[in-house]
Formats: sequence, structure tokens, C-alpha cells
Amino acid sequence: MERWIGRVALVTGASVGLGKAISKALVEHGMVVYGCARDVDKIKSYSEQLKSKSAKGSLHAVKCDLRNEEEILSMFEEIKNNHGGVDVCINNAGINFDTTLLDGRTDQWRNMLDVNVLALSICTREAVKQMKEKNIDDGHIIHMNSMSGHRFASKGEHFYTGNKFMVTALTEGLRRELRAMGSHIRVSCISPAVVEGTEIGKRSRGEMVNSIRFPFKPLEPQDIADMVVYILAAPPHMEIHDILVRGTGQKI
Ligand SMILES: NC(=O)c1ccc[n+]([C@@H]2O[C@H](COP(=O)([O-])OP(=O)(O)OC[C@H]3O[C@@H](n4cnc5c(N)ncnc54)[C@H](OP(=O)(O)O)[C@@H]3O)[C@@H](O)[C@H]2O)c1
Repeated sequence: MERWIGRVALVTGASVGLGKAISKALVEHGMVVYGCARDVDKIKSYSEQLKSKSAKGSLHAVKCDLRNEEEILSMFEEIKNNHGGVDVCINNAGINFDTTLLDGRTDQWRNMLDVNVLALSICTREAVKQMKEKNIDDGHIIHMNSMSGHRFASKGEHFYTGNKFMVTALTEGLRRELRAMGSHIRVSCISPAVVEGTEIGKRSRGEMVNSIRFPFKPLEPQDIADMVVYILAAPPHMEIHDILVRGTGQKI
């Protein structure tokens, strides 16, 4: 990770869950991290904690509702004005509503598409634009996919599954576009099964993931943060395409 010290990473959905664990790990490795979310006070609060522990890097909180393109564009403008643009973009923010295809609500589907697919694509486009502007050829885009991007999960997750299958396609599509233009910017995704200790379950079904009884030990946010570090630390000739990962005892 030495080569990333002092370089700039954007982590979306940094207020809680996986985004918080990833942001902390990157700051501890010396990166200048911009963490975005709507509840920006949560990011400010652990940014202060990192400062008090004299972490090598720094964490800057940006308020951004990823459903709003204007807010995304002004976030990128802020990063460019303050730190010259991003070197790494981690499209982590994601939402899920417990909804079936036959009687789901259109506003919830739109909300999911906006955050899980459109914001990820807009942030990717803007990040690559900034990397090109500053002649960065070793930048990295990481999408937070899901095991649901590769197989069917429970009944109430078919729309979310469709979003994550799109993330699988967008990862390979982006890789091909970057290679076609002769760029060495790398693209990776991580596809976890159940991770405990995040809010996605509470937000979709009113239950914290760690309050649901699983007959196995789920993954932890730190496991995913470690994978991000592994992906970024890979030598330049190695592009990790996707990491599919489950808790050892998980059946599907
Ligand atoms: N946890 C799992 O079991 C699991 C498994 C596989 C894949 N994943 C994927 O991992 C990623 C992170 O999930 P998580 O479990 O950490 O979720 P989480 O705990 O619910 O956190 C979601 C994050 O996304 C942000 N977010 C949601 N809507 C937003 C919006 N409109 N604008 C800006 N930020 C928004 C939230 O911040 P604010 O609400 O403050 O805006 C929060 O920081 C997602 O892409 C998810 O699909 C999770």
C-alpha cells in the first residue's frame, strides 16, 4: 500500500457499514479519503476519532445524496478543487428494499436503481475523467457488488438481484472500455454474501443483520475492508476482477 500514501480515494456510503470500515482502513494506510453519505455527521465523528489516534491519512466528509446527479458532480468538483481529483473510487453505497416483482413499489425500485446502478455509473465516469485529467494511469475503480450479482437470493430481493447483476455487467464493460483506450486504470468488484454489523438489513426489513439468527458465522465489515486493501495492494500487472466471498457455513 506504500504507493497509495497521500493519494485520494472516494468512498461512497461511508457513514456506516462496509463504507465506514473501508474508509477507516484506507485512512490507516495513509490515504486522503473523501467519504460521502447523507448523514455526514457520522463520518465527521469517526474522522475525529481517526485524527485523535494519529492515523497516517485523513478523512473528509462530504454530504451527498447519490440520487441527485448535481450533488454528485459538485462532490467531484470539491475533491478536484481541494486535492486535485481522485485516484481511487470505491462505489460502495447500496440499498435494498424487501419488495417482490409482482407487487413492489415503483418508488422503491427507482430509489434502488438510482443508488445501486446510476450513482455507481456516474461516479465511475467522473472518477475516470479526473484520473485522465491528472494523467493517472494507475487509478482504481472498485464496485461493491454482492453474491446477489451472481445467483438468486430470497424472494424479496429479485429487484436488488437485478441491480447487482447489472453491477457484474458494468464491471466487465468498464474493463473493456478502459482496455480499448489503452488505459491501465484497473477495475475490480467484491461480491460478498451476508455481512453482519451493517444497516442494510435494518433499512430493508427493519432488522439489523447481526440481530437475525444465522446458522453460520457471517462475514464482518473488516473482512471486506481487508479485501479492498488486498485489491489496491496488488502489483500493477495484476487486476483482480471479482472476489466472491461467503461465510464458510453459508449454504447459498
Ligand atoms: N451487508 C451485506 O450483507 C452486504 C452483502 C453483499 C453486498 N453488500 C453491498 O455492500 C454495500 C454496502 O452495504 P452495507 O451493508 O454496508 O449497507 P448499509 O450499512 O446500509 O450502508 C449503506 C450506506 O450507503 C449510504 N447511502 C444509502 N443511500 C444513499 C444515498 N441516497 N445517498 C448517499 N448515500 C447513501 C448510507 O448512508 P446515508 O444513509 O447516511 O446516506 C450508508 O453509508 C452495498 O452496495 C450492498 O449492496 C452488502
